[in-house]
Amino acid sequence: CNYLVERSRGDIIDTLVEGLERLEYRGYDSTGIAIDGDQPESTLLYKQIGKVAALKEEISHDAPRRDVSFVSHCGIAHTRWATHGEPKQVNCHPQKSDPSCEFTVVHNGIITNFRDLKTLLINKGYTFESDTDTECIAKLFKHLYDENLSNGHELDFHVLTKLVLLELEGSYGLLCRSSHYPEEVIATRKGSPLLIGVKSEKKLKVDFVDVEFPDDNAGKPDTPLVSRSGTPNGSARSQTTNGFSGLRRTRPYDSNNLLPITPNEFNLRHSQSRAFLSEDGKPNPVEFFVSSDAASVIKHTKKVLFLEDDDIAHIYDGELHIHRSRREVGASMTRSIQTLEMELAQIMKGPYTHFMQKEIFEQPDSTFNTMRGRIDFDSGTVMLGGLQAWLPAVRRARRLIMIACGTSYHSCLATRAIFEELSEIPVSVELASDFLDRKCPVFRDDVCCFVSQSGETADTMLALNYCLERGALTVGIVNSVGSSISRVTHCGVHINAGPEIGVASTKAYTSQYIALVMFALSLSDDRVSKMERRREIMNGLRNIPDQIREVLSLEPRIKELCQQDLEEHKSLLLLGRGYQFATALEGALKIKEISYMHSEGVLAGELKHGVLALVDEQLPIIAFATRDSLFPKVVSTIEQVTARKGHPVIICNKNDDVWAKKAETKQLVTLEVPQTVDCLQGLLNIIPLQLISYWLAVNRGIDVDFPRNLAKSVTVE
Ligand code: G6P
Repeated sequence: CNYLVERSRGDIIDTLVEGLERLEYRGYDSTGIAIDGDQPESTLLYKQIGKVAALKEEISHDAPRRDVSFVSHCGIAHTRWATHGEPKQVNCHPQKSDPSCEFTVVHNGIITNFRDLKTLLINKGYTFESDTDTECIAKLFKHLYDENLSNGHELDFHVLTKLVLLELEGSYGLLCRSSHYPEEVIATRKGSPLLIGVKSEKKLKVDFVDVEFPDDNAGKPDTPLVSRSGTPNGSARSQTTNGFSGLRRTRPYDSNNLLPITPNEFNLRHSQSRAFLSEDGKPNPVEFFVSSDAASVIKHTKKVLFLEDDDIAHIYDGELHIHRSRREVGASMTRSIQTLEMELAQIMKGPYTHFMQKEIFEQPDSTFNTMRGRIDFDSGTVMLGGLQAWLPAVRRARRLIMIACGTSYHSCLATRAIFEELSEIPVSVELASDFLDRKCPVFRDDVCCFVSQSGETADTMLALNYCLERGALTVGIVNSVGSSISRVTHCGVHINAGPEIGVASTKAYTSQYIALVMFALSLSDDRVSKMERRREIMNGLRNIPDQIREVLSLEPRIKELCQQDLEEHKSLLLLGRGYQFATALEGALKIKEISYMHSEGVLAGELKHGVLALVDEQLPIIAFATRDSLFPKVVSTIEQVTARKGHPVIICNKNDDVWAKKAETKQLVTLEVPQTVDCLQGLLNIIPLQLISYWLAVNRGIDVDFPRNLAKSVTVE
């Protein structure tokens, strides 16, 4: 949104499209934008399935006049990852309320009651063109606008939004623009992230925005509407209100009970607090960049404000106002404007072909950054600032539950044993979705640890809310600063791996792993009996970045191995036990995610209970056989494989006699990695697997950074 900052339509299109390009790394299947048309109150809508490049082409074919200039303007744009309705043009966002686009909406999340809403709106005469839940939102805006207008109430945009939100169940991060509210935009969220970048030509008068709470007097009869002086753009629109309370309609829906809104049911009053970003009420040339991801905003401004659940941001006339759709006791009254540390260069590819490759090779630095300033190797102490004050409470826990999804879940599995060993607290590791499905009992003396790269994964976030409701102490292990999980948890650690763009997580895994080990180390720093073990681990950690660098030098061999031995096969098994079971699972996930080859991580001890039936001369197998207390058992599993004519690739320690001879006689292929402490070996063993998955995918011509059907940040359940 630009206010008193002249922009041509060409500039506006380019800004929106470029913002979408910055989100390409998240994975998506379609795109779209909505901007002002040539006629007053008309809208230009462009949508396309596939990549942003396809959208650009569609816009260029249509050739909208790029030189038309706007002093103030709001445009919206979206990349979609299908939840309701397959990827096709009508399902792309923005979704519209009607053919003339009175209301256009872009939306992340899922509206769970959309079928009920759709039925009711159809009964009211609306026709739907898409299969999306989002179209209901656009039509609800129109329906409520028209209904109130026919009752003589021309509602303020944010009041109308509150009425719409009353009807929605589920999660949303949504933007709405409307020809009835030119140059205004609404941004609101519940369970889906949204932030607002602010670029102001003058110095901002304040670095925070007051939140406008609804009044508590719902149901008082006939409170008069209060006018807001100087409605946007001097339009003749009468009224309106800043405060608002609504009586919630009873559910479930029945066809006569849609949206029973009368002035009697709401107390519309002037709110006490307003948010100003203009200096002394004078016009302030300003631009706002609303996005679900800082990556698309950072080029324009580093000053951002994170919206919270139930916030309704209303941007008009160069001002940002934040309203609440509901009041809760103790809720924060201000949203501060923060300065992002992220540099654009940090999220670019550099000399690498893919973000994933760059991130794999960044691991010597990213793992070092995770430890930087936190471990004093000389004195043998670990200091995690965001956890320190909470350690006594964590030590008193009856149990620790680690909760995560995907790769983050594997980092929990990889560190569970060392956590239990050092802390002597029972640890369970949970997949967030399953944890919720089971409605797992959680108590006040539990500590629940949420591990997430993005800090926005919907399942993990829902599990976090579930644990908060039950009074547990919550800890976040998160990469994205300012993300929902990092803000909502009581305490936590930022893994400081830097932005991760490739959909398949690599450097976040190794940094999560280290952050969890550091957490376990700091929990046990009061135990004399653990001193020696702690020392050993810290010495191990000190060498990890250099050892990772050494493993990365295997890349040419791995490339060759992929071409000669693995590429042609349909399926691949990974065997590991003890600490290396998590490595096997994570390695198999990497291969599936980006090379689309079926792969399975198998607990080596379980091989004989079923999977052994798959083993023959053909099936490629990779076995983790680095030295630890389980080494003899792993050797015996590998013998079971070779006895069935299998030819496993062995990931072993450098110069290990057991494997060196067999490799010499070409009975086996080995990939040698340096040795470290047992509980850290997974940090080195996963690197060859990351490289194998990468080269399998590249050799198969797959777009590594954007694997089909996957998204970087899954903000839907
Ligand atoms: C998605 C990504 C995975 C990631 C998982 C959890 O599935 O594709 O790479 O591991 O979400 O994400 P989080 O951001 O919570 O770590």
